[in-house]
Amino acid sequence: MVQKFPKDFIWGTATASYQIEGAVDKDGRGESIWDRFSRTPGKVVNGDTGDEACDHYHRYEEDVQIMKDMGIDSYRFSIAWPRVFPTGKGKPNPKGLDFYQRLLDELEENGISPSVTLYHWDLPQVLQDDGGWVNRDTAYYFRDYAYYIFSKLGDRVQFWITHNEPWCAAYLGYGNGEHAPGLKNFKDSLLAAHHILYSHGLAVQSFRDEGLEGQIGITLNLTPQYPVSDKPEDIEAAKRVDGFNNRWYLDPVLRGEYPHDMVEAFTAQGVMPKLLGGDLETISVPIDFLGINFYSRGIVGYGDNELGVKHYPPENPVTHMGWEVYPQALYDLLVRLVQDYGEIPLYITENGAAYPDKLVNGEVHDKERISYIEQHMKVCADAIAAGVPLKGYYLWSLLDNFEWAFGYDRRFGIVYVDFKTQKRYLKDSAKWYGQFIAKQR
Ligand code: FCB
Repeated sequence: MVQKFPKDFIWGTATASYQIEGAVDKDGRGESIWDRFSRTPGKVVNGDTGDEACDHYHRYEEDVQIMKDMGIDSYRFSIAWPRVFPTGKGKPNPKGLDFYQRLLDELEENGISPSVTLYHWDLPQVLQDDGGWVNRDTAYYFRDYAYYIFSKLGDRVQFWITHNEPWCAAYLGYGNGEHAPGLKNFKDSLLAAHHILYSHGLAVQSFRDEGLEGQIGITLNLTPQYPVSDKPEDIEAAKRVDGFNNRWYLDPVLRGEYPHDMVEAFTAQGVMPKLLGGDLETISVPIDFLGINFYSRGIVGYGDNELGVKHYPPENPVTHMGWEVYPQALYDLLVRLVQDYGEIPLYITENGAAYPDKLVNGEVHDKERISYIEQHMKVCADAIAAGVPLKGYYLWSLLDNFEWAFGYDRRFGIVYVDFKTQKRYLKDSAKWYGQFIAKQR
């Protein structure tokens, strides 16, 4: 049994626009890089696309009701940039914004506070045609888009996340090509990462300039790396992967510098992005909280890939993603963040697990998911007891949805979605989460 959490701890669920909304051609929405990518043969399992997804665009009232019934405090969702600016810039599309106004109305009526992510990977395709995040201009268009959203919704939303997981957007999108836009150039991916971070800083600055109330931060996917042995070369290898996945984002945002060891390595390889004066000052403008997406850890040793490392297989049971269940890494991460970066308020903005759920007579007995969640909540409680300023937990995900390159083949929801009928079924984990929250009151 998990300990009691502070009374004001926030319990939430999370989703993202492209993964659930569907309605990709509705009300003037423009094309996103995920529309283009998912329609490209061979990119997504079974050729799945987000064309319909969970049809949340039309079913948001039902989905909000489900959260209300579970007693959820806060709902983290993202805004689809191409709904609001179909070509990424220029004239906004009022019908696109209307959808989010309707969603906010519904949340407000049901006493659920919104937590809004501005960028969860659905870049307008028109901007990609000009280079996407490799082009510095995209950072300025992002600032304009963010500014517009703040001016329209700033009085209704108290919790803002600029970007979701810049490492994934940059590296999976532009480095190894597993995600949209599917490009494979390591050097470009580092430049893309820099521009994403820069756009984060620009957006925070414009939020402050607007004098808005509420909090703004960024969400990073942080994956602690453990050396496979205590040999110095394995310890060094783990440090490099940590540098690439974690510190490359934490350090500029929270310290105003890229990690020196990685700068040295990337400079030697000729892939270090050229920074302009003032970039790091912008990237490190103070934020109000750090969002953490945590799923698993890595085990690494010395090897001969581009980072000089080799990845080792998990030592514990894995989820349907093949990700090792290792909650201790979340505890270690939370404690380390405070040690290395100081007392910034932290939120788990995603944590959860995919399992091959079976719907039988309207029920899904997802014991493993409940166990995963419970174990991770336990270490959150331990971390709070150890003095970590952890303020909330958002479960990924409310609904089974379009899991990027895995399409509908991986189910992360606590609510089961039958994609043929769009009918929703509460899994045991949803019922469990609702009861858990009730006990915390
Ligand atoms: C994260 C993403 C989220 C979801 C989970 C499983 O990397 O932010 O959209 O796909 O993984």
